Amino acid sequence: MKKALSCLCCGLLTWASSLVHAAGSFDPATQCKSVSAETCATAQALGRGINMGNMLEAPKEGDWGVRLLPEYIDRAATVFNTVRIPIRWSNHAAVTADATIDPTFFSRVDKAVDQALAKGLYVVIDMHHYSQIFGDPVQPGEVPVAPDVIDVRLVNMWRQIAERYRDRSPKLIFELLNEPHGRLNSTTWNLLMPQVLAAVRQSNPTRTVIVTSTYWSNVRDIAKLIMPPVDRNLIMTFHNYDPMNFTHQGLSWMPQFPLGVTCCTAAQKKVITDALDKAKQWSVVSGYPIFVGEFGSANKADMASREVYTRFFREEAERRGIPWAFWEFASSFGMFDPAAKAWREPLRRALLD
Ligand code: BGC
Repeated sequence: MKKALSCLCCGLLTWASSLVHAAGSFDPATQCKSVSAETCATAQALGRGINMGNMLEAPKEGDWGVRLLPEYIDRAATVFNTVRIPIRWSNHAAVTADATIDPTFFSRVDKAVDQALAKGLYVVIDMHHYSQIFGDPVQPGEVPVAPDVIDVRLVNMWRQIAERYRDRSPKLIFELLNEPHGRLNSTTWNLLMPQVLAAVRQSNPTRTVIVTSTYWSNVRDIAKLIMPPVDRNLIMTFHNYDPMNFTHQGLSWMPQFPLGVTCCTAAQKKVITDALDKAKQWSVVSGYPIFVGEFGSANKADMASREVYTRFFREEAERRGIPWAFWEFASSFGMFDPAAKAWREPLRRALLD
C-alpha cells in the first residue's frame, strides 16, 4: 500500500512538473522542433500586438466607422511589437476564378504595410470575412461570388498577395484565413489549406506563414489541423474570447449573451487558463510555435471587469510565453478612444503595465 502510494506520488510529481513545464516561458527546444531558426525567432519576437480591426476588413474602409490612419500605426508602434491587419481582400477582387485584386486597393494596403514595417513592427496580414467560403450568408456590402469559384479565389488571391509582397521584410507575415468554420470543417480545410500555402510558397519559399484550425480558430480544434511536414516556416494561431458571455455581452450579433456579466471568478479564469494550457501543450508536442491572434472584450461590459479580464488574459499568456494580439485598436473592443485621441487607460495598463 505504501509502495502504491509512493508510486502515486511519483506519478503526481511527474504530472505536476509537466504542467509547470507547459506553463513556463517559451521553450525553443520543444516549441520550435518543427520550424526553422528564423521562424522560431519571429514567433518569439511577435511579443505584444494589436489588431487594427474593423478598418480594412469592413466591406469598404470606413464603412464600420474607423479607418486605418497613419497616426494609428505610429501610435501602435510606440508600445507594440506587432500589428495584425485584418483585410477583406475578397471584396476588392474580381468575382471570377482569377480573383484579380483591384490595384487601387493593393496600393492602399501597400501604404499601411510599408508604414508599419518602416516603424519596425511585425505585420500580420490576413484574409478576413470571406463569408461565402464558410457557407455563411453574404454580409451587407459584400460582393457575392458563384459557388464554384469560392475556393479557387482564395488560392488565387493569395498567389497575388504573396507575389506582390515577395520582397518585403521577413517581418511581414501572411495569415491564410481568419477563423475557418462552417463549411470549412477539418476535412475540407485540411484539403484546401495546403493548396493556399502552395500558392504562397511559389513566390515566398521561406516567409513565416500563420495557419489556424477550424471552429473559429478555437483551441478545441487545434490538433485537427494537419501541418504540412515539409514546411519549416509555420506558426499556429488560435483565438480566445472566453468567457464568451462576458466578452460578447450585449452585442446585436450575439443575442444569446445578455448584458450584466462581470469578470473574473475562479471559474471564469479557469476557462481561460485551460485554453492557454491546451494550446501550449499542443505547441510542445507538435513543435510549432503559437500565437493568440485575438482576445478582448466589447465595450458593453463594465470597464472595471474589462480591465481585470484583459490583465488576467495577458499575464497568463505571457506567463506561458505565448505572444498575443489584442482585439482591437479603436472600435467597440478598442484600447484607443478615437474621439478623445487617447488610450483607454484601464485597457492600456492592463495590456502593458
Ligand atoms: C471578427 C470581428 C469580431 C471579433 C470579436 C473577429 O474575428 O472579425 O468582427 O468583432 O472577432 O468577435
